[in-house]
Parts: sequence; structure tokens; C-alpha cells
Amino acid sequence: MTTKENEAAALPLASIFPIASDISPAGHLRIGGCDTLALVERYGTPLYVFDEATLRHQARAFLGEFSRRYPDTTVRYAAKAYINGALARLFAEEGLSLDVVSGGELALALANGFRADRIEFHGNNKTPQEMEEALRAGIGRVVLDNYDEIELLEATAARLNVRQAAILRVGPNVDPHTHGHTTTGLLDSKFGLPIPTGQAEEGLRRALAAPHIDLLGIHAHLGSPIFETKPYPQAIAVMADFALAMKQMHGFDCREFSPGGGFAVQYVTDTPAPEPAIYAEAITSALRDAFTGRELPLPHLSIEPGRSLIGRAGVALYTVGSRKEIPDVRTYVSVDGGMADNIRPAIYGSKYEALVAGRPLAAAEETVTIAGKYCESGDVLIRDIALPPLKAGDVLAIPASGAYCLAMASNYNLALGPAVVLVAEGRARLVRRRETYEDLMQRDVFEDGDVIG
Ligand code: LLP
Repeated sequence: MTTKENEAAALPLASIFPIASDISPAGHLRIGGCDTLALVERYGTPLYVFDEATLRHQARAFLGEFSRRYPDTTVRYAAKAYINGALARLFAEEGLSLDVVSGGELALALANGFRADRIEFHGNNKTPQEMEEALRAGIGRVVLDNYDEIELLEATAARLNVRQAAILRVGPNVDPHTHGHTTTGLLDSKFGLPIPTGQAEEGLRRALAAPHIDLLGIHAHLGSPIFETKPYPQAIAVMADFALAMKQMHGFDCREFSPGGGFAVQYVTDTPAPEPAIYAEAITSALRDAFTGRELPLPHLSIEPGRSLIGRAGVALYTVGSRKEIPDVRTYVSVDGGMADNIRPAIYGSKYEALVAGRPLAAAEETVTIAGKYCESGDVLIRDIALPPLKAGDVLAIPASGAYCLAMASNYNLALGPAVVLVAEGRARLVRRRETYEDLMQRDVFEDGDVIG
């Protein structure tokens, strides 16, 4: 194929790979103008490549689509989807706020210049230490998850002599039809206080009575990823009923409102995800209707997208190693990563697509199973995928790997954390170096032991 033909050829799976992906003159997969084989040459594999154009595009899409329809909106990036120093800086630069769920995420955000008042603290079991760190930092919002947290926040705020802005997480009992592990808005959930049982009301009553808590509104997060839009209006109606009842019974003014995050991204060809505009339309129109219909003043809206801001931006690159054909059963092709850097297929049965980075246009000729290198049979990245014949040394690119892969990575088998690069306009920046054997050992201590107790 000539260079000209290569340039003209469309990248397969283009809607799943990052926006700035194409085919290089050499016929290789290119992301952010960088040839992926050259990236591998320089940084090794497994390598996570994040496309800056996609990150900024998604941030602007959520900010733009929501605030165009509902100007009083805050977009908080849910850091749990994946964060590092460079990403925190990039999202701060784009004007996003942040949702953190641990002292660690908070510390990283603060260390990278995220303003504390733009950060919200989530989680169902914040420790006393984390609560204190958050309040001392001047955190913008604490999301109260349960009765114990209301007590903990009141005690901490009283001790530090501050009045802390907070919102109450409620459970609307709406099914988002996600994997059971990632469904949160149903009655049987560890998160939030359910509305139907009266516990949300009791929590609200307690928070309102707490002198050092300034309760501004209510929050619900239904699950993730939510491929339908319908659960959002359903939950918004239940929550607006609750807001109205709480106004009538307790004089509560619901000034802030959050339907959480959970917006989907496309992982595989046959399951496209709604665009940000579709979610924005569903949520803002439902919120306006629900509140004006009940003669309640329109609240400030806050949304918490995680996956949808970062999922498409990230591509995982692996090197193919061994290959095993079991006649009439299956062909295993193993790569140099797997469940230590992406545990999603193992725990949710998540599905992915893949391309051979060096020949993205080559025809699929065989069906193989892409296995990881870790010591567990469940360590399979993709079961039964049609690909061109793969041999040792080929580089396999798995798109839509930006969210919840590195965030849930482990050192299983003492795997080294992958390197992470940010690419834009033909330049690559290493933003997190590959872990080393020394890193693995540096927390081991050898002491004589103290007498305890
Ligand atoms: N807000 C709250 C309160 C959440 O719990 C979450 C996600 C989000 C926002 C962001 O959801 P997103 O927009 O990213 O869907 N490990 C799973 C996903 C767990 C999601 C946890 N909470 C996965 O790999 O699919």
C-alpha cells in the first residue's frame, strides 16, 4: 500500500479510539500524532497512552452541553476513574471541579494546585483523619453518606470551629441496569440513605440540626456505566418529591442538586454510548420540570462524570509474547500485561476491542483469546476476538482503557505499574514512569521489633 493510500485510509474502530487517532504514513496506529510503535520503542510496554485532545474535548463537551442548557452547573471530575499529577493539572486548567473519595485523592489534587473549595469529598466511610484533613484543607463540599458521618462531620467541624458546607447522599431506589457491582442507587446498597425507608429524611433532619453543618442539597449516584438516559429523570423525580416533602416538613431549601455521574463510553462496536448532549438534555430538562412543577426554586446542578471524561482518551499498548493453540478448543495469545493493569474483564466481564498497532488495516483472519501474563486463569483481557494473525513482538492496542484500569491496578505477581504518557500534536510527555523493582521493595523494613502491649 502506498503512503498516500495509507493516509487516506480510515482507522478501524475510530469511534472507540481517541479523537486524535489515525494511521501514520508508515501504516501504524498513531495517537495524538505519535506513532504508537515509536512510543513503545521509547517507553516499553505495557504502556498507557492518553490523548490530550480527547481529554480536553470531553471536558469542554460536558461543561458546554450542561451549562448551555442550565448555566448554574458545576462539572466535577470523579477522580476515582483515574488521576495523576498531570491529569489533575489538565482538568483544573479546563475549569473542572473535582470529586475525591479518599485522603490520597485529596492530597494528590491539592499537591497539583486544585483549589480545595472546588473539591467535594465522597465515600461511605471517611475516616476521622480524612475528615479532618478535608476540613483543614478547606474542602468545598462534604457528601454525607450515613448517620455516623453526620456525627463525625459535626464533631470535626465543631473541633476546628468551622461550619462545613455539605450535601446529603440519598438512595432513590432507581435501577440503572448496570453490573451488580457498580449499581448504587437501589435500596440494598452500602451508599447513601434510602428515601423509601425514611432514612434519608432522618439523615436530613439530623444534618439540619447540626450547628456546624450547612446542608445545601441532595445527591444521588445511580451506578456506572449507565447506557440509558431514562434512569436519570426517574431519579430526579423521586429526589424532587423528597426535596418538596423536606421543605414542607422541615423547611429545608434544596439549593444544590446532583444526580451523580455514570455516563457511559463506547467500549465495543455494537454498544455505542449516548453523547454528552443527550445526557445533558435528559438531566437538565428533567430537573427544570421537576423543580418548577413542584414550585421549588431551581437549584445549583452538579454532575460527576468520571469514565466519560477519560475513558476514550486512554489506549493500552501491550507486546504479544507466547501463543498456544489448543486444537478445537481455543487459541491463547498472551500479552505482557493483564489483570494487574486492567482487572475489569475479570471482575465485571467487561468487553474490549483491539487493533494490531503495526498493521491496523490488516484483515482479521483468526479468532483468538487475549490472555494476560498473571497467575490466574481469569486473567483474560479479551475472549474470542477476530484479529489478524499475531506473533511474538506484535503490539496490541486496546482502546477505551482510560477509566478504571490504572485506577484499579495492582502489583499482583509484583507486576510493575505501567508507564503513562500524554500525547498531543506529535509530542509525547512521560507523566508517570514505569515502576521499578526498587519501587517494589522500598517500603519493606527490617527492624528488630518493639514490645507492644
Ligand atoms: N459519583 C459517584 C458518587 C460515584 O460513586 C462514581 C463512580 C462516579 C461519580 C463516577 O462514575 P462514572 O462517571 O465514572 O461512571 N470500577 C467500575 C466503576 C465504579 C464506579 C464507582 N463510582 C468500572 O470499572 O466500571
